[in-house]
Amino acid sequence: GAPIEVDLSPIAEGQDIKVFWRGKPIYISHRTKKQIEEARAVNVASLPDPQTDEARVKSGHEQWLVVIGICTHLGCIPIAHEGNYDGFFCPCHGSQYDTSGRIRQGPAPTNLVVPPYQFVSDTKIQIG
Ligand code: FES
Repeated sequence: GAPIEVDLSPIAEGQDIKVFWRGKPIYISHRTKKQIEEARAVNVASLPDPQTDEARVKSGHEQWLVVIGICTHLGCIPIAHEGNYDGFFCPCHGSQYDTSGRIRQGPAPTNLVVPPYQFVSDTKIQIG
């Protein structure tokens, strides 16, 4: 699969879009300040799959979260902006991900995967 470019400018703060890359759903979330603060206030050592929010987003573009929308439990597609952590909720067996896409509760063993991507301008990313 070829890389894809996605224009972020239509995505309002607090909204998510889903695009497809290599046949996989990719969620792009325009996080609010509150969502970023929540992601950074967590005690990372307490997480099932300890990763800082800083490691999961691009420096200088902290408002953008880009994750592969496939639950790391058994592969269902989680729902954005659902669940106890204002992140993603998997309806299949109840895994709850936070605003950084990290697993917080439920059977999924690992965080939602961040695909390879880069900013090609302030409002455009290339995935792949
Ligand atoms: Fe998501 Fe099982 S596939 S919780």
